[in-house]
Amino acid sequence: MNSSPWWKEATIYQIYPRSFFDSNGDGEGDLPGVTSKLDYVKSLGVDAIWLSPFYTSPNKDGGYDVANPRDVDPRFGNLEDAKELIAQAHQRDLRVIADIVPNHFSDQHVWFQAALKAGPGSKERERFHFYDAHADGTPPNNWISIFGGPSWTQVEDGQFYLHLFDSSQPDLNWENPEVNADFEKTLRFWIDLGVDGFRIDVAHGLIKEDVLTNHPDPQGLSDALRLDVAMDFEKRNALLLTVPFFDRQGVHEIYKKWRKLFDSYGDREIMAVAEAWVHPPVNATRYVRADELHQVFNFDLLTADFNSDVLFGVVERSISLNATVNALPTWALSNHDSPRVASRIGDEQARALALFVFGLPGSTYVFAGQELGLPDGQLQDSDRQDPMFFRSNGPSKGRDGARVPLPWSGETTPFGFSTGKPWLPISQSWKDFTVEHELTDPKSSLHLYKNALELRKEFLVGAGGITWLESSRHGSKEDALLSYSRGPITVVMNLSDSVQECDTAGKLLIVSGANVDARDGKKVIPARSTAWFLT
Ligand code: NOJ
Repeated sequence: MNSSPWWKEATIYQIYPRSFFDSNGDGEGDLPGVTSKLDYVKSLGVDAIWLSPFYTSPNKDGGYDVANPRDVDPRFGNLEDAKELIAQAHQRDLRVIADIVPNHFSDQHVWFQAALKAGPGSKERERFHFYDAHADGTPPNNWISIFGGPSWTQVEDGQFYLHLFDSSQPDLNWENPEVNADFEKTLRFWIDLGVDGFRIDVAHGLIKEDVLTNHPDPQGLSDALRLDVAMDFEKRNALLLTVPFFDRQGVHEIYKKWRKLFDSYGDREIMAVAEAWVHPPVNATRYVRADELHQVFNFDLLTADFNSDVLFGVVERSISLNATVNALPTWALSNHDSPRVASRIGDEQARALALFVFGLPGSTYVFAGQELGLPDGQLQDSDRQDPMFFRSNGPSKGRDGARVPLPWSGETTPFGFSTGKPWLPISQSWKDFTVEHELTDPKSSLHLYKNALELRKEFLVGAGGITWLESSRHGSKEDALLSYSRGPITVVMNLSDSVQECDTAGKLLIVSGANVDARDGKKVIPARSTAWFLT
């Protein structure tokens, strides 16, 4: 079966280039390193790669601080390397998605440097959010940055500029048409170079409202926006309805324009996926209306408990909300901003959840290393590089754990990732997680992913919607079975710590854990496992 357009039910493999493969021994992954591993990527059975930023950047926020969006940072190679990567990917029938960062630039971008020089009231400053201090010298408002600390930094002449993230990431002023014109130039630049789509960073953040007004509870709001801060569900939801800098109506006008630009490339089927953390969840569907973007990330599975009620709710809600705008959902269990799924919910559970999700309609994102079942890297504070760790002054350890480089081969760290010293240490305990090792083990996570993605392509892509068979709402015991059928496949997940019987008929195709037995005409699903049956 196949799906048209290409992105609709694609499996997209996220590569964080700095952590993927180092081709020149400087301890950091690079574009030629990615190119050299494309056969491996293809062998996983994915359809596309999404590359986290590789543009010119002082790298204060892992490259999400872009100093020149139309060039490659020397640490990753050069534009010729980017072209070669794209060409080699296309030769293998892999599409390439670039990451575009429109909410902010790096403070090293020429525009920001010019704004600093030009001074208050200049047209150069109007490309950012520069404001005078209050009479008492305090910043224009009390917003707290997503990474902790004030959202405002003062420059020498006394004005403040807004940065929702690190102080090295000044927010752009999207009310200024010059900003959109420059981004359209960047989009065209990469499309003309061959990319097939974009992941839009902080897609919900471009338009700000009430920039000169204090928020009534800035600390509460800041905590509510952070995944690593526990908070009462209702309280968090109430606070998330009060964010003055996210999900404003104006962002949609921008994406309508971008959609026209993408569509102007006709049968190249250029796509875009929005990174939009919005509340309430229904708001996410606005980003994928017919005249806007193609996909919006659903982040619920990055935090959801391994609990049938919770997972039923997440899956059902995402499918049905997207259906209201005729879109398909997206699924992601890990990414470069959140703990790896194996560390968060457990190794067996992570395998079970992946197999459960691979059966669902829509597009699936796999974060490089997830296929190996990698846990988060264990790091000393002295190893950490994430601004979130430094700006939060303690409570957040930051996101480096998920960004530890991939182990490829051999018996000793750094396991073939680099001939030099990796930018984050790779623990010796990852010996059994190398690609080389997992390829020799038919029970490995790597084999599970490869086999599942092959079966997904064969039986499920384009197979339509799901029918729920078992959930707590369909009579199953809480935390026991969650099951649906789709096309010719029945997917059964046993979330409990003991084996569970189910009535499913059909031939076992794949199971994430131990073997499935048969007993009295019933199938016995192993604990913390998912199985697919061909019916
Ligand atoms: C989301 C990106 O995924 C994250 O890594 C980055 O720090 C922020 N946006 C700011 O660009």
